[in-house]
Amino acid sequence: MSTFPTHRPRRLRQSPAMRRLVAEHTLSASALVLPVFVTERDEPQQIASIPGVRQETLATLPAVVQAAADAGIGGIMLFGVPLHRDAVGSGATRPDGILNRAIRVAADASAGRLTVQADLCLDEFTDHGHCGVLDGRGAVDNDATLERYAAMAIAQADAGAQILGLSGMMDGQVAAVRGALDAAGRTDVVLLAYSAKYASAFYGPFRDAVESTLVGDRTTYQLDPANAREGVLEADLDIREGADIVMVKPAGPYLDVLAAVAQRSPVPVWAYQVSGEYAMIEAAAAAGAIDRDRAIMESVLGIRRAGAAAILTYWALEIAARLREGARALGTEVQA
Ligand code: PBG
Repeated sequence: MSTFPTHRPRRLRQSPAMRRLVAEHTLSASALVLPVFVTERDEPQQIASIPGVRQETLATLPAVVQAAADAGIGGIMLFGVPLHRDAVGSGATRPDGILNRAIRVAADASAGRLTVQADLCLDEFTDHGHCGVLDGRGAVDNDATLERYAAMAIAQADAGAQILGLSGMMDGQVAAVRGALDAAGRTDVVLLAYSAKYASAFYGPFRDAVESTLVGDRTTYQLDPANAREGVLEADLDIREGADIVMVKPAGPYLDVLAAVAQRSPVPVWAYQVSGEYAMIEAAAAAGAIDRDRAIMESVLGIRRAGAAAILTYWALEIAARLREGARALGTEVQA
């Protein structure tokens, strides 16, 4: 028998090649999704709180789609930034609303090389900024909102969206949207349920990005950060309602919820590394406090390790480029 120490785990850490061989988790471009904002204005707009990310226009969007497809990433998630908003979010269901137009442009530009995904929520389209319509007392009316979501789903499917991201956190939203799509004969449309979406401070920069008009908060529909069990319940309900994919959001502060959902879910589980997670790392790096590139890879790998099959991240293109660089450096690049 061997003598002390019996176990020398450091053997497997002795060289880059050895470490690569025993790596339990890897990142791949195909499992990354890039969120893209599209403004109704004529010029792209920089987003101060998400450095390096801008609002695209319908004219600049095709180049982004092509760059994303060239990078081999799995898809883009579109968000519309309309100029005009009203109480019921009319722009969300009009075929000429900015998001529906963007979907058409992206579907065209992608030519099937990546999946076109769209945010299905009313917050960018309502003048009060809530994710649903309001009742007479100013509260978010769950069931009236479901009707708006159903109409929005049809509009997005008609425009060419292949995956709809249900991010509004209304009860029964997956069933309502699935029912409407089925009734319209659109059984092909994939539903990505933002099942465990928490009422998070980390959405701050995003609200800037979409010029949110919200006064107050979303605590009556998004999850309480104190609750993990409830996040798992939401995922279970969405799967029963017909979700094809479920998601946890934000990602980094909710890795326990992600791991729990990933353990039990029979459908793919994704995670959204949100704007605040991105902005924190960029700010810390800009302040010279951390190594930016390593922090990015570590943050995304952590989300992967916790169980995310795919990850929405504003660094998707940069990470895809770095993965390709790494493969080239090792001479292991696979020719497509
Ligand atoms: C709702 C939506 C939000 C995000 C994605 N979809 C904002 C919210 O719920 O307030 C946040 C994404 C991010 O912070 O990067 N349409």
